Amino acid sequence: MIAMTEHEFTLLAGYIKRNYGIQLKAEKQSLLSGRLQQVLQQLGYDNFSDYLEYLKTERSGEAMSTLINKVSTNHTFFMRESGHFDFFQTNVLPYLKRTISDGDLRIWSAGCSSGEEPYTLAMIVDEFLGNEKMNWNAQLLATDISGQALALAKAGVYDSEQVDLLPKTWRLKYFNRVDASRYTVAPQLRQEVIFRKFNLMDAQFPFKRKFHSIFCRNVMIYFDARTREALVKKFYDFLEPGGYLFIGHSESIVRHSTAFHYVMPAVYRKG
Ligand SMILES: C[S@@+](CC[C@H](N)C(=O)[O-])C[C@H]1O[C@@H](n2cnc3c(N)ncnc32)[C@H](O)[C@@H]1O
Repeated sequence: MIAMTEHEFTLLAGYIKRNYGIQLKAEKQSLLSGRLQQVLQQLGYDNFSDYLEYLKTERSGEAMSTLINKVSTNHTFFMRESGHFDFFQTNVLPYLKRTISDGDLRIWSAGCSSGEEPYTLAMIVDEFLGNEKMNWNAQLLATDISGQALALAKAGVYDSEQVDLLPKTWRLKYFNRVDASRYTVAPQLRQEVIFRKFNLMDAQFPFKRKFHSIFCRNVMIYFDARTREALVKKFYDFLEPGGYLFIGHSESIVRHSTAFHYVMPAVYRKG
Protein backbone atom coordinates (compact mmCIF):
# COMPACT_ATOMS: atom_id res chain seq x y z
CA MET A 1 0.00 0.00 0.00
CA ILE A 2 1.49 3.34 -1.09
CA ALA A 3 0.64 6.03 1.46
CA MET A 4 -0.56 9.47 0.38
CA THR A 5 0.50 12.37 2.60
CA GLU A 6 -1.85 15.25 3.34
CA HIS A 7 0.37 17.54 1.29
CA GLU A 8 0.29 15.17 -1.69
CA PHE A 9 -3.49 14.99 -1.40
CA THR A 10 -3.73 18.81 -1.41
CA LEU A 11 -1.53 19.02 -4.52
CA LEU A 12 -3.37 16.25 -6.34
CA ALA A 13 -6.82 17.57 -5.40
CA GLY A 14 -5.72 21.04 -6.60
CA TYR A 15 -4.58 19.57 -9.90
CA ILE A 16 -7.90 17.75 -10.37
CA LYS A 17 -9.89 20.85 -9.46
CA ARG A 18 -7.97 23.06 -11.90
CA ASN A 19 -8.27 20.63 -14.78
CA TYR A 20 -11.71 19.06 -14.33
CA GLY A 21 -13.59 21.27 -11.89
CA ILE A 22 -14.07 18.27 -9.60
CA GLN A 23 -13.74 19.21 -5.96
CA LEU A 24 -12.38 16.58 -3.59
CA LYS A 25 -12.86 17.43 0.06
CA ALA A 26 -10.33 16.29 2.69
CA GLU A 27 -12.44 13.24 3.60
CA LYS A 28 -11.88 11.87 0.09
CA GLN A 29 -8.15 11.38 0.67
CA SER A 30 -8.32 7.64 1.35
CA LEU A 31 -10.78 7.13 -1.53
CA LEU A 32 -8.44 8.89 -3.95
CA SER A 33 -5.42 7.06 -2.62
CA GLY A 34 -7.22 3.72 -2.93
CA ARG A 35 -8.37 4.34 -6.48
CA LEU A 36 -4.87 5.26 -7.61
CA GLN A 37 -2.89 2.45 -5.97
CA GLN A 38 -2.96 0.21 -9.01
CA VAL A 39 -2.06 3.09 -11.34
CA LEU A 40 1.05 3.92 -9.33
CA GLN A 41 2.05 0.28 -9.12
CA GLN A 42 1.70 -0.18 -12.86
CA LEU A 43 3.82 2.90 -13.47
CA GLY A 44 6.41 1.69 -10.99
CA TYR A 45 6.12 4.60 -8.53
CA ASP A 46 6.37 4.09 -4.79
CA ASN A 47 5.15 7.57 -3.78
CA PHE A 48 2.53 10.12 -4.90
CA SER A 49 5.00 12.99 -5.33
CA ASP A 50 6.69 11.21 -8.23
CA TYR A 51 3.28 10.42 -9.68
CA LEU A 52 2.32 14.12 -9.50
CA GLU A 53 5.49 15.07 -11.29
CA TYR A 54 4.71 12.52 -13.99
CA LEU A 55 1.17 13.91 -14.33
CA LYS A 56 2.48 17.41 -14.89
CA THR A 57 5.09 16.42 -17.44
CA GLU A 58 3.45 13.60 -19.41
CA ARG A 59 2.57 15.05 -22.82
CA SER A 60 0.39 12.49 -24.60
CA GLY A 61 -2.63 13.09 -22.33
CA GLU A 62 -2.73 9.45 -21.27
CA ALA A 63 -1.77 10.24 -17.67
CA MET A 64 -4.62 12.74 -17.34
CA SER A 65 -7.02 10.38 -19.03
CA THR A 66 -6.20 7.52 -16.64
CA LEU A 67 -6.55 9.87 -13.69
CA ILE A 68 -9.99 11.14 -14.71
CA ASN A 69 -11.20 7.60 -15.30
CA LYS A 70 -10.27 6.80 -11.71
CA VAL A 71 -11.64 9.98 -10.19
CA SER A 72 -14.98 10.45 -11.93
CA THR A 73 -18.13 8.76 -10.75
CA ASN A 74 -19.87 7.29 -13.76
CA HIS A 75 -22.95 5.81 -12.15
CA THR A 76 -26.00 6.18 -14.39
CA PHE A 77 -28.98 4.22 -15.70
CA PHE A 78 -31.73 4.36 -18.33
CA MET A 79 -34.66 6.65 -17.50
CA ARG A 80 -32.84 8.08 -14.48
CA GLU A 81 -34.95 10.81 -12.87
CA SER A 82 -37.79 9.84 -15.17
CA GLY A 83 -39.90 12.94 -14.44
CA HIS A 84 -37.48 14.86 -16.65
CA PHE A 85 -38.10 12.56 -19.56
CA ASP A 86 -41.88 12.81 -19.12
CA PHE A 87 -41.64 16.59 -19.17
CA PHE A 88 -39.29 16.51 -22.14
CA GLN A 89 -41.70 14.31 -24.08
CA THR A 90 -44.95 16.03 -23.19
CA ASN A 91 -43.86 19.68 -23.05
CA VAL A 92 -40.45 20.34 -24.52
CA LEU A 93 -40.60 18.25 -27.71
CA PRO A 94 -44.08 19.51 -28.75
CA TYR A 95 -42.84 23.09 -28.20
CA LEU A 96 -39.69 22.43 -30.25
CA LYS A 97 -41.63 20.74 -33.04
CA ARG A 98 -43.88 23.78 -33.27
CA THR A 99 -41.12 26.35 -33.20
CA ILE A 100 -38.14 24.87 -35.04
CA SER A 101 -38.48 25.80 -38.67
CA ASP A 102 -35.38 24.23 -40.24
CA GLY A 103 -35.77 20.66 -38.89
CA ASP A 104 -32.50 20.84 -36.96
CA LEU A 105 -33.10 19.63 -33.41
CA ARG A 106 -30.09 20.13 -31.14
CA ILE A 107 -30.00 18.27 -27.83
CA TRP A 108 -26.82 17.89 -25.74
CA SER A 109 -26.20 15.35 -23.01
CA ALA A 110 -23.24 16.93 -21.19
CA GLY A 111 -21.61 14.37 -18.89
CA CYS A 112 -23.26 11.40 -20.58
CA SER A 113 -21.15 8.73 -18.83
CA SER A 114 -21.76 5.27 -20.34
CA GLY A 115 -24.58 6.46 -22.59
CA GLU A 116 -27.83 5.54 -20.86
CA GLU A 117 -29.00 9.17 -20.70
CA PRO A 118 -28.47 10.08 -24.39
CA TYR A 119 -29.86 6.73 -25.57
CA THR A 120 -32.96 7.30 -23.42
CA LEU A 121 -33.34 10.73 -25.04
CA ALA A 122 -32.79 9.28 -28.51
CA MET A 123 -35.57 6.72 -27.94
CA ILE A 124 -37.96 9.42 -26.77
CA VAL A 125 -37.15 11.66 -29.73
CA ASP A 126 -37.49 8.77 -32.18
CA GLU A 127 -40.85 7.75 -30.77
CA PHE A 128 -42.09 11.33 -30.64
CA LEU A 129 -41.17 12.21 -34.22
CA GLY A 130 -42.33 8.84 -35.61
CA ASN A 131 -42.81 8.92 -39.37
CA GLU A 132 -41.84 12.57 -39.49
CA LYS A 133 -38.33 11.76 -38.30
CA MET A 134 -37.03 11.72 -41.87
CA ASN A 135 -37.74 15.45 -42.09
CA TRP A 136 -35.55 16.12 -39.07
CA ASN A 137 -31.90 16.12 -38.24
CA ALA A 138 -32.35 14.88 -34.70
CA GLN A 139 -28.93 13.49 -33.82
CA LEU A 140 -28.00 14.13 -30.21
CA LEU A 141 -24.60 15.23 -28.99
CA ALA A 142 -23.30 13.31 -25.96
CA THR A 143 -20.03 14.30 -24.30
CA ASP A 144 -17.95 13.22 -21.33
CA ILE A 145 -14.42 13.65 -20.05
CA SER A 146 -13.96 9.96 -19.28
CA GLY A 147 -12.62 7.94 -22.21
CA GLN A 148 -13.54 4.74 -20.40
CA ALA A 149 -17.18 5.79 -19.99
CA LEU A 150 -17.34 6.95 -23.61
CA ALA A 151 -15.97 3.62 -24.84
CA LEU A 152 -18.81 1.84 -23.03
CA ALA A 153 -21.31 4.33 -24.44
CA LYS A 154 -20.10 3.80 -28.00
CA ALA A 155 -20.07 0.02 -27.58
CA GLY A 156 -23.70 0.28 -26.41
CA VAL A 157 -23.79 -3.08 -24.65
CA TYR A 158 -25.94 -3.17 -21.51
CA ASP A 159 -26.95 -5.74 -18.90
CA SER A 160 -30.34 -7.36 -19.36
CA GLU A 161 -31.23 -6.34 -15.79
CA GLN A 162 -31.17 -2.71 -16.93
CA VAL A 163 -32.76 -3.11 -20.35
CA ASP A 164 -35.52 -5.43 -19.10
CA LEU A 165 -36.85 -2.52 -17.03
CA LEU A 166 -37.58 -0.48 -20.17
CA PRO A 167 -40.96 -0.65 -21.94
CA LYS A 168 -41.19 -3.81 -24.04
CA THR A 169 -41.83 -1.85 -27.22
CA TRP A 170 -38.57 0.02 -26.73
CA ARG A 171 -36.66 -3.16 -26.00
CA LEU A 172 -37.89 -4.77 -29.18
CA LYS A 173 -37.38 -1.73 -31.35
CA TYR A 174 -34.14 -0.26 -30.05
CA PHE A 175 -32.12 -3.24 -28.72
CA ASN A 176 -30.78 -6.54 -30.00
CA ARG A 177 -30.07 -9.43 -27.67
CA VAL A 178 -26.41 -10.47 -27.47
CA ASP A 179 -26.89 -13.38 -25.05
CA ALA A 180 -28.89 -14.21 -21.93
CA SER A 181 -27.35 -11.40 -19.91
CA ARG A 182 -26.73 -8.59 -22.40
CA TYR A 183 -28.33 -6.43 -25.06
CA THR A 184 -26.77 -4.13 -27.60
CA VAL A 185 -28.25 -0.86 -28.82
CA ALA A 186 -29.69 -1.31 -32.31
CA PRO A 187 -27.69 0.40 -35.09
CA GLN A 188 -30.52 2.75 -36.07
CA LEU A 189 -30.58 4.16 -32.53
CA ARG A 190 -26.83 4.20 -32.16
CA GLN A 191 -26.47 6.42 -35.19
CA GLU A 192 -28.74 8.97 -33.53
CA VAL A 193 -26.12 9.76 -30.86
CA ILE A 194 -22.74 11.36 -31.54
CA PHE A 195 -20.31 10.69 -28.70
CA ARG A 196 -17.37 13.05 -28.15
CA LYS A 197 -14.76 13.57 -25.49
CA PHE A 198 -15.16 17.04 -24.03
CA ASN A 199 -14.06 18.67 -20.80
CA LEU A 200 -16.72 21.03 -19.47
CA MET A 201 -13.89 23.07 -17.95
CA ASP A 202 -12.52 23.98 -21.39
CA ALA A 203 -12.43 27.74 -21.70
CA GLN A 204 -14.14 27.68 -25.10
CA PHE A 205 -17.14 25.63 -26.08
CA PRO A 206 -16.51 24.56 -29.69
CA PHE A 207 -20.14 24.49 -30.84
CA LYS A 208 -21.22 26.42 -33.91
CA ARG A 209 -24.93 26.46 -33.13
CA LYS A 210 -26.86 26.78 -29.90
CA PHE A 211 -28.82 23.94 -28.35
CA HIS A 212 -32.55 23.56 -27.79
CA SER A 213 -32.02 21.51 -24.63
CA ILE A 214 -29.02 20.68 -22.49
CA PHE A 215 -29.00 17.81 -20.01
CA CYS A 216 -26.18 18.17 -17.49
CA ARG A 217 -27.40 15.96 -14.70
CA ASN A 218 -25.41 14.67 -11.74
CA VAL A 219 -22.21 16.23 -13.06
CA MET A 220 -22.03 19.62 -11.36
CA ILE A 221 -22.57 17.95 -8.00
CA TYR A 222 -18.79 17.39 -7.96
CA PHE A 223 -17.97 21.04 -8.73
CA ASP A 224 -17.67 23.92 -6.27
CA ALA A 225 -20.16 26.81 -6.32
CA ARG A 226 -18.03 29.13 -8.45
CA THR A 227 -17.29 26.48 -11.08
CA ARG A 228 -21.00 25.56 -11.17
CA GLU A 229 -22.08 29.16 -11.58
CA ALA A 230 -19.62 29.78 -14.42
CA LEU A 231 -20.73 26.60 -16.20
CA VAL A 232 -24.42 27.41 -15.83
CA LYS A 233 -23.74 30.81 -17.39
CA LYS A 234 -22.03 29.11 -20.33
CA PHE A 235 -24.98 26.75 -20.74
CA TYR A 236 -27.23 29.82 -20.81
CA ASP A 237 -25.15 31.37 -23.57
CA PHE A 238 -25.21 28.12 -25.56
CA LEU A 239 -28.98 27.65 -25.40
CA GLU A 240 -31.45 29.03 -27.92
CA PRO A 241 -34.00 31.46 -26.47
CA GLY A 242 -36.74 29.31 -24.92
CA GLY A 243 -34.25 26.44 -24.51
CA TYR A 244 -34.23 24.17 -21.48
CA LEU A 245 -31.51 23.15 -19.04
CA PHE A 246 -31.96 19.93 -17.05
CA ILE A 247 -29.72 19.36 -14.03
CA GLY A 248 -29.71 16.61 -11.39
CA HIS A 249 -32.34 16.63 -8.65
CA SER A 250 -29.69 16.90 -5.97
CA GLU A 251 -28.27 19.97 -7.69
CA SER A 252 -29.67 23.47 -7.79
CA ILE A 253 -29.06 26.86 -9.31
CA VAL A 254 -29.07 29.85 -6.99
CA ARG A 255 -31.93 31.85 -8.43
CA HIS A 256 -30.56 35.36 -7.89
CA SER A 257 -27.29 34.37 -9.62
CA THR A 258 -28.79 33.29 -12.93
CA ALA A 259 -30.82 34.60 -15.84
CA PHE A 260 -32.57 31.21 -16.14
CA HIS A 261 -36.25 30.92 -15.22
CA TYR A 262 -37.15 28.13 -12.84
CA VAL A 263 -39.62 25.70 -14.46
CA MET A 264 -39.83 22.74 -12.06
CA PRO A 265 -37.35 20.92 -9.81
CA ALA A 266 -34.03 20.68 -11.66
CA VAL A 267 -35.45 22.19 -14.89
CA TYR A 268 -34.66 25.74 -16.02
CA ARG A 269 -35.47 27.76 -19.09
CA LYS A 270 -33.83 30.55 -21.00
CA GLY A 271 -36.28 33.46 -21.40
C1 LIG B 1 -22.64 10.48 -12.41
S1 LIG B 1 -22.27 10.64 -14.11
C2 LIG B 1 -23.78 11.35 -14.73
C3 LIG B 1 -24.35 10.61 -15.91
C4 LIG B 1 -25.72 11.08 -16.38
N1 LIG B 1 -25.71 12.45 -16.76
C5 LIG B 1 -26.76 10.83 -15.33
O1 LIG B 1 -27.32 11.78 -14.75
O2 LIG B 1 -27.04 9.66 -15.04
C6 LIG B 1 -21.19 12.05 -14.09
C7 LIG B 1 -20.34 12.17 -15.35
O3 LIG B 1 -19.75 13.47 -15.42
C8 LIG B 1 -18.50 13.35 -16.05
N2 LIG B 1 -17.67 14.53 -15.76
C9 LIG B 1 -17.15 14.91 -14.57
N3 LIG B 1 -16.42 16.01 -14.71
C10 LIG B 1 -16.47 16.35 -16.03
C11 LIG B 1 -15.90 17.41 -16.80
N4 LIG B 1 -15.11 18.33 -16.26
N5 LIG B 1 -16.21 17.45 -18.12
C12 LIG B 1 -16.99 16.52 -18.69
N6 LIG B 1 -17.55 15.49 -18.02
C13 LIG B 1 -17.29 15.41 -16.70
C14 LIG B 1 -17.93 12.07 -15.45
O4 LIG B 1 -16.91 11.52 -16.24
C15 LIG B 1 -19.18 11.18 -15.37
O5 LIG B 1 -19.30 10.32 -16.47
